[in-house]
Formats: sequence, C-alpha cells, structure tokens
Amino acid sequence: MPSPPSPCPARAKNFTVEAIWYPQQAENTNQPKQLQTLILGQGFDAAQEDLYSTLVAPALARGWNVISCEGPGQPTVRRFQGLGFVPDWERVVTPVVDYLLNEKAAFVDRQRLALFGNSLGGYLDARAAAFEPRLSALLLDGGVWDMYDGYKGHLTPALDELLESGDQEAFDNEMNAIQSNPNTTTELKWGILQGLWAFKTHSPYYFFQQTKNYTLKGGIADMIQMPTWIADGECDATFPGHSEMVKDALGDRTALHIFKGTAGFHCQTGAPQELGRVLVCLAESNT
Ligand SMILES: *[C@@H]1O[C@H](CO)[C@@H](O)[C@H](O)[C@H]1NC(C)=O
Ligand SMILES: *[C@@H]1O[C@H](CO)[C@@H](O)[C@H](O)[C@H]1NC(C)=O
Ligand SMILES: *[C@@H]1O[C@H](CO)[C@@H](O)[C@H](O)[C@H]1NC(C)=O
Repeated sequence: MPSPPSPCPARAKNFTVEAIWYPQQAENTNQPKQLQTLILGQGFDAAQEDLYSTLVAPALARGWNVISCEGPGQPTVRRFQGLGFVPDWERVVTPVVDYLLNEKAAFVDRQRLALFGNSLGGYLDARAAAFEPRLSALLLDGGVWDMYDGYKGHLTPALDELLESGDQEAFDNEMNAIQSNPNTTTELKWGILQGLWAFKTHSPYYFFQQTKNYTLKGGIADMIQMPTWIADGECDATFPGHSEMVKDALGDRTALHIFKGTAGFHCQTGAPQELGRVLVCLAESNT
C-alpha cells in the first residue's frame, strides 16, 4: 500500500515548484528500495491533481514512485506566486530532479527516471529534457513543435493577417470583440482568456508574441538525447502535425503512437484505460 502523497515544494531560482510526491514506500521504512520514478508535468491549463486517476494511480499500482509538479503559468504557481508561464521549463524540472536525487535518493532509481509531459507539457517537458540529461526517458502526450505556429492556426485568416501585420492595438481590439461575437467558437474564446491569465497579460497580441519563445526549433530538439515516446490522437486538432515534426527531428530516438477511436482525442480524455494499457506495454517492452 503506497504512503499518502505529500506536498513537497522544490526550490527553483526565483520561484517554488509546487509538487506532490507519491512514494511507493513509507518514508520511515527500514528497507528503502530504489525504484523507477515518474515525473508528471501538466500543460496550458489543467491542475496536477487532474492526472491522479489517469496516470498517478495506475503508475503507483505498477510499482512506480510518482511526483507531479506545477511551474509558472500553471494553476498553483500562477495563483499563489503571481507568475505567468516561462519558456525555459528546465527551471521547473531540474529542481524536481535535484529534489528526487538528493532528498529522496534512498527511494529513487536514478537510472530509471522518466518525465511525462501532458498537453502543452509536450513542449514544456521536451524543452526541459533538452537541458536535463539525467532523465532516462521522455514521454510527450502529444508533441508540440512550435506553440506560436500551433495557436495561430486556430485564428481566422483575417485575424492571422492582423497578427502578422504587427498592429497590436488593432489585433487586441479584434480579439476582445470576438469574446462577445456569438459566431466565435467557445474553444477559441476560452483559449484566449486562458492564455491571457496564464501568461499574465491583458494583451492578446503580447500573448501571441510570448508564445514564439515556446519552440523546439533552433537546435533545442537536437539536445533531447534520451529515448522519447510521443502520443497523439487521430481526432486531436490542437497542434495538427506537430507530433510528426517532433518525431522527425528526434529521428531514431523516438516512437510515435497514434491513438484511435474513443482514445483518439486530446490526451486521451475519456479513455484513460487505453492510455494506461499502451503505457504498460511500453514499460514492459523496455524493462
Ligand atoms: C531572479 O530575480 C532577480 C531579482 O529580482 C533578477 O535579477 C533575476 O534576473 C531573476 N532570475 C531569473 C532567472 O529570472
Ligand atoms: C455571424 O455569422 C452570420 C452568418 O455568417 C453573419 O450573418 C453574422 O453577421 C455574424 N455575426 C457577427 C456578430 O459577426
Ligand atoms: C520571449 O519573447 C519576447 C517577445 O518576443 C521577448 O521580448 C522575451 O525576451 C522572450 N523571453 C524569454 C524568456 O525568452
């Protein structure tokens, strides 16, 4: 029976990573075992606790330690430390790896340390892994090659043109107007409002400019050296084609799994059993 989870803030430079540690063994055990450990990162909007039923509980049941975490822009750090997203996500993951290898060294197998990035974590955790060679495996659900390219693909051609024109005031006015336009999809309205909050700005234009920093272009992907598994869904239109681009950049260090049918939506929402089944096969084929 695993011990109860414990909040364990990991100190990063200039902020605190809010993490939850779910150990396999009681902390006061006489016979600590160094076990495989999964680090979980969330994406653009959801809380780390949302991964409990889909990933934390199944991994605990199969003998893994788990630690989930949130950094700037994500719910707890945005709310309690007032910090918007940062692109250099190794500032979040490296303190968590340090925490595991120092504070939890008796429980953590340093040769089997995997990082899982959910949703926009497909960018964030890929970026972190490029700068964190102590990770032995990287899992991305799904791949994000470039956030700016992906997000602006959801704009109408007219809005895209306005964004590219560089006219901040005109773009912001139009973007604010779509919030009260009944023709705008809820997804786009929500995406913009969430982006403004998470990037801590009132300007949609500034939000889009910031997303240009969230990219694996420019040699970042080449720095990811550990085996990488990418998942995507056949019906997931969040970052169309990006998983293939990340896979192409990583070459034979990576495998891409396309979920189909009910599991074919963003992060396999509604079909966690299928995600779990595929992950178990993956873990078994690598042990
Ligand atoms: C950390 O905060 C200090 C003081 O506010 C600032 O000078 C420095 O640039 C910050 N470092 C990072 C990595 O953000
Ligand atoms: C919404 O779309 C309809 C049909 O294309 C159009 O006639 C109407 O003017 C649009 N409304 C707004 C507020 O843009
Ligand atoms: C991100 O992008 C903005 C605008 O393009 C730039 O001014 C800023 O320095 C970048 N920040 C980081 C941390 O790279």
